[in-house]
Amino acid sequence: MKGALFLLVWSLICWVCHGQQGGIATEEYHLPFPMQSCDSSGCQEEATTIVIDADVRQMYSAADSSVSCQTGQGWDSELCPDGITCAENCALDGIDEAGYQSIYGATSDGETIDFKYLTESSYGTSIGGRLYLLASENEYRLFKMKNREFTIDVDTSQLPCGLNGAVFFVEMEGDGGVSSYPSNSAGAKYGTGYCDAQCPTYLRVIAGEVNIGQSNYGICCGELDIWEANSAAQTYTFHTCTSEGYYPCQGVDCGSDATGDHYNGVCDKDGCEFGAYRMNQHEYYGPDSSFDVDSSQPITVVTQFLTEDGTDEGDLVEMRRLYVQNNQVIRNTRVNFEGIPDYDSITDEFCNDYKELFGEVPDFAAKGGLQSMGEALDRGMVLVLCLWEDYSNHMQWLDGISPADGDPSDPGVLRGPCPADSGRPGQMHQNYPDAYVRYSNVKFGTINSTFTL
Ligand SMILES: *[C@@H]1O[C@H](CO)[C@@H](O)[C@H](O)[C@H]1NC(C)=O
Repeated sequence: MKGALFLLVWSLICWVCHGQQGGIATEEYHLPFPMQSCDSSGCQEEATTIVIDADVRQMYSAADSSVSCQTGQGWDSELCPDGITCAENCALDGIDEAGYQSIYGATSDGETIDFKYLTESSYGTSIGGRLYLLASENEYRLFKMKNREFTIDVDTSQLPCGLNGAVFFVEMEGDGGVSSYPSNSAGAKYGTGYCDAQCPTYLRVIAGEVNIGQSNYGICCGELDIWEANSAAQTYTFHTCTSEGYYPCQGVDCGSDATGDHYNGVCDKDGCEFGAYRMNQHEYYGPDSSFDVDSSQPITVVTQFLTEDGTDEGDLVEMRRLYVQNNQVIRNTRVNFEGIPDYDSITDEFCNDYKELFGEVPDFAAKGGLQSMGEALDRGMVLVLCLWEDYSNHMQWLDGISPADGDPSDPGVLRGPCPADSGRPGQMHQNYPDAYVRYSNVKFGTINSTFTL
């Protein structure tokens, strides 16, 4: 069985072959998270489930699950002389139902996912993380969203300043990369194949290859941030790329800040975003009933992907936002700056105008704008639920002041009401160990079919 693999099933096979050894790998479990697909005649349930990201799993020798592939210093030199051999020699551990909760802080009651900020276990401290929606055991649920709408209930009431309980889509491969990269036979079942528009270089495995000390090697793909939020602030953003699909980048293509290539990479890292507070509406979203959208209660977040001619084939031209709370449909707020129109949705014109007003580089346009995002939606994207903290900017770009030395009276500098010294992970761990985010009621369908007007 040479040429195998990077997976747990292999470990189980070995266990069967060789009898019981130490450190037996665990059989993978997936959290129930059924969604509904809807059209004008109603909604149908799909038995979708949630899998946690591959990057946080233990990696063992596929031949002997008592031997870890990772050592204190890095990678076991025998198992991992190079990235491909390492992927072939090592197996990702499965996680059982108890492990999802006790190691990673993720639970389902059959309909609702709760995801904790901090979870202490014998493996150490787990800090939020990424969860992906599966259509079946080995395949992610691919969403093709042009001329459709996506709806999810979020509860951000237990997320303080500095945390981000996000809902987004990225153009991962449906099988997690198994067919593209033979050294990956674990696949979506084990949460492989993450990518995003920041072209992350920190991932342990990229394109079926364990990243053993390669520098400036990353993985890019289009990203659509439906919801990035805590109880103080929220925004929605699109990040498009000139590359198609799951795209391993090297050098300039990765758009690294360290090499001064922020705008030279394949993806629009800045994105184009609509955040109520940043658009100068400070009473729209917040943690009590005096706000139009009350973050102390669950919120139904509806996002509509409208095409120029109202067909599935037309170019994507607008991303509209609605909320539903207490049986009331709440319109998105409007841009509130002199000198630009009072837009209430994301369009290329909105992006151009606010970027010019804020003095930002219109990289979204250089990378193809909404039309290019629409092409990624046509190819299909994977749903990610993600809870994270921010070591580099303390989430101030979402909920505080950014840049830190910016003048708060300049348009676009104030992002939210959070203090400038909030969001520091060290303090957050002390002060908010019990923070969590809650997700439920994913619905997907034709325009106006997933909620009641
Ligand atoms: C959806 O509802 C809105 C508000 O009533 C309406 O303006 C729009 O035309 C509807 N769109 C479709 C495709 O039904």
